[in-house]
Amino acid sequence: MLDLFADEQPWQEPLAPGAVILRRFARAGGPALMQAIDQVAGVSPFRQMVTPGGYTMSVAMTNCGGLGWTTNQRGYLYSPLDPLTAAPWPPMPEAFAALCHDAACAAGYPEFQPDACLINRYAVGAKLSLHQDKDEADLRAPIVSVSLGLPAVFQFGGLRRNDPLKRLLLEHGDVVVWGGPSRLFYHGIQPLKPGTHPLTGDYRYNLTFRQAANNE
Ligand code: SIN
Ligand code: FE2
Repeated sequence: MLDLFADEQPWQEPLAPGAVILRRFARAGGPALMQAIDQVAGVSPFRQMVTPGGYTMSVAMTNCGGLGWTTNQRGYLYSPLDPLTAAPWPPMPEAFAALCHDAACAAGYPEFQPDACLINRYAVGAKLSLHQDKDEADLRAPIVSVSLGLPAVFQFGGLRRNDPLKRLLLEHGDVVVWGGPSRLFYHGIQPLKPGTHPLTGDYRYNLTFRQAANNE
């Protein structure tokens, strides 16, 4: 199909105080990011984690960087080791670090230095229920979230679980950054609809960059 929008330039959409969507920001870097995802997953494979409540998550996950987000029977935690391989998570690929830095700068967070990148892989029907990102030690650092491949509906609410939700379609290359007053806003992903994307096939991928450790 002829893609009439192939040349479109990124643009910004304000989302909430401290939060912005950088539309198409990661699109040009898509192939390099996908290649880096494959390399990370070759060392620390995608796996469906089990919540402390015993529920198997529909999203498959892996991590790169000094710390990785994971689960165990007691809760959610950041660990320097991949529990599946008992080895450190793969290092943050250069393409990831560069994109994250550029996005954080564009969103007004030039100081952001992520030490963790959670990689989410959504197959048809996979979803992420409404949650807050609150396992990080220093909540002054923002979240940088990169969407690749199939589109998905992102829900973005407020500080309370039952605050009204915005529903936004996130497409290939869109980057959402939230921090400051919206750092703890509830968010989630509605079940992925079937489709095929030229770069990612049947999947949607999401990279979530965080500063997990307290740097002080
Ligand atoms: C997340 O909240 O960790 C992921 C959000 C997304 O997949 O866009
Ligand atoms: Fe999240």
